[in-house]
Amino acid sequence: MGPRGITIKSDKEIDLMRQAGRVVAQAKARVRDAVRPGVTTGELDRVAEDTIRGLGAIPSFKGYAPYGMSPFPATICASINEEIVHGIPGERVLREGDILSVDVGAIVEGFHGDSAFTIGVGGISEDAQRLIEATRRALDRGIEQVRAGARVGDISHAVQTYAEGLGYSVVRQYVGHGIGRAMHEEPQVPNYGSPRKGYLLRKGMAVAIEPMLNIGGWETKQLSDGWTVATADGSLSAHFEDTVAITSKGAEILTRLDQP
Ligand code: MF3
Ligand code: CO
Repeated sequence: MGPRGITIKSDKEIDLMRQAGRVVAQAKARVRDAVRPGVTTGELDRVAEDTIRGLGAIPSFKGYAPYGMSPFPATICASINEEIVHGIPGERVLREGDILSVDVGAIVEGFHGDSAFTIGVGGISEDAQRLIEATRRALDRGIEQVRAGARVGDISHAVQTYAEGLGYSVVRQYVGHGIGRAMHEEPQVPNYGSPRKGYLLRKGMAVAIEPMLNIGGWETKQLSDGWTVATADGSLSAHFEDTVAITSKGAEILTRLDQP
């Protein structure tokens, strides 16, 4: 099944998405606290899964099998250095100087939250720090565009101009997405595009905005495990993602703990 159509959520449904978002935010916080040299990505996966299940929610990535792909076997995606997204956690040990992108999703009463962050392991290079900070800010630039009456292209353009203005490339083959009862709904939310183009955003919609920035070129390659996506040129990549809903209060970031 491809991505589902756009869904307009009721206030009650948005509230379930708030709950799913808070679970994801707590799982991210627990994983972030566990990241250090010497830990394996599989250990981080268990921290995330225990947190999500402990809060009565369901990890959404585990068993996820888009058409033609093997089921994703874990709760988090753990993507290291030149890996962009969809890395499979396992026995790999994190080393000082690595950068790690963690993507987490959870389901509460049928509604999804989806979020990602990139973090340095111990001390990291200035180039890596700048890339991470730029990606975090690119996400915020995109989120700033979210309101009823804006279009998806406003988000795309804000992310792209910020990232490219700093000399980074934005990944094109993977995009953000609508989210609700399915993790991937329409519309697609690319990290490149033109203002005032694309789907019109309305109250009751929710989108996962997820810029992926590379130090080198935007081209990607698929690794032989069937899931992990890396930069074609081996350059470092960072990824941040939040689930954002348009509610009666305006744009609400659902996957951060510090939101009111
Ligand atoms: N946030 C990711 C995305 O939107 C979800 C990971 S896909 C999975 O593509 F297969 F790993 F679950
Ligand atoms: Co996503």
